[in-house]
Amino acid sequence: MLQELEELKLNALRELDAINNLKELESWRVRYLGRKSELTRVLRSLATLPLAERKAVGAGANEVKAKLEDSLEQKEQVLRGVQLAASAEEGGIDITLPGHPFPTGRLHPITQTIYEICDIFTSMGFQVVEGPEVEWDYYNFEALNIPEEHPARDTMSTLWVDFETDSGERPMLLRTHTTSMQLRVMEKMPPPLRVVIPGRVYRYEASDATHTPMFHQIDGLAVGKGITMADLKGTLYEFARRFFGEDRKVRFRCDYFPFVEPGAEMAIECSVCGGKGCRLCGNTGWIEILGAGMTHPQVLQRAGLDPEVYSGFAFGMGIDRMPMLRYGIDDIRLFYSSDLRFLRQF
Ligand code: DAH
Repeated sequence: MLQELEELKLNALRELDAINNLKELESWRVRYLGRKSELTRVLRSLATLPLAERKAVGAGANEVKAKLEDSLEQKEQVLRGVQLAASAEEGGIDITLPGHPFPTGRLHPITQTIYEICDIFTSMGFQVVEGPEVEWDYYNFEALNIPEEHPARDTMSTLWVDFETDSGERPMLLRTHTTSMQLRVMEKMPPPLRVVIPGRVYRYEASDATHTPMFHQIDGLAVGKGITMADLKGTLYEFARRFFGEDRKVRFRCDYFPFVEPGAEMAIECSVCGGKGCRLCGNTGWIEILGAGMTHPQVLQRAGLDPEVYSGFAFGMGIDRMPMLRYGIDDIRLFYSSDLRFLRQF
């Protein structure tokens, strides 16, 4: 009897293996597990057997039954999956497919850098202001001691906006630096004031690995009584320490900008060679990152501030170079190519 049960089981499983649709599966179930099946007959006849045999055959039969039921269930799951996939092809819904992933957005590396720089300055008491990208010649140049014919204009090839006045002047442009906001701020906000001004700036230049006609700058301005060059150095030193790291060396040198007097330039120790000199820093060991200085008395005067009473410091830097230096990105155009493979890394 036990021998027969074993054969029954093997036969049933072999047949089950060959089945590939639910209809055949149902007739298999009726045949092997149904009321009139061999197995049911064996289980029913147990009562007629002598006790010893009843125990052994009962246990064996139940074991076979459990095995067949288990295999049936597994087979059914497999076949239902296949059926769902087939009906999905006909336009049905396949509930076994994974759900739609929700793509998460993230901030552009330039935006992240602007936020980070602004955070550092706001923690030192600066306020963040923004201003127009389409600007008057007056705020971008004239008010900053850069009259027409001044050589400083040559260093900032300007994109002019087609707007002609009666006298034939074309006084409108795309701002070439965020310094254009400095006089606007001084006109509106009474000192003492401390602001940083991040934003887009434009220059009439061809694109290459280190230039794009649109890029980003952030300017800073502090005006009040008794502000000195020491305040400027202290502020920028603290910024460099927080942004580039505690032990990065900083260097200040004299420089010229028409709207500050005296003017200075700040450089940080090269991140690639650590000051030894390499291609990135042009073998100098230093990377210039910003211009700065004490606000020119004439600029204060234009805002109606008495330079005998008030003084101020200012600084301005390019933003795009910061993540380039930090992550070793060698082509600025990657920021503006909208290539998600690049952008997703930040
Ligand atoms: N505007 C200058 C530039 O684009 C940078 C600059 C230099 C800004 C000195 C300042 C400053 O505010 O004080 O090259």
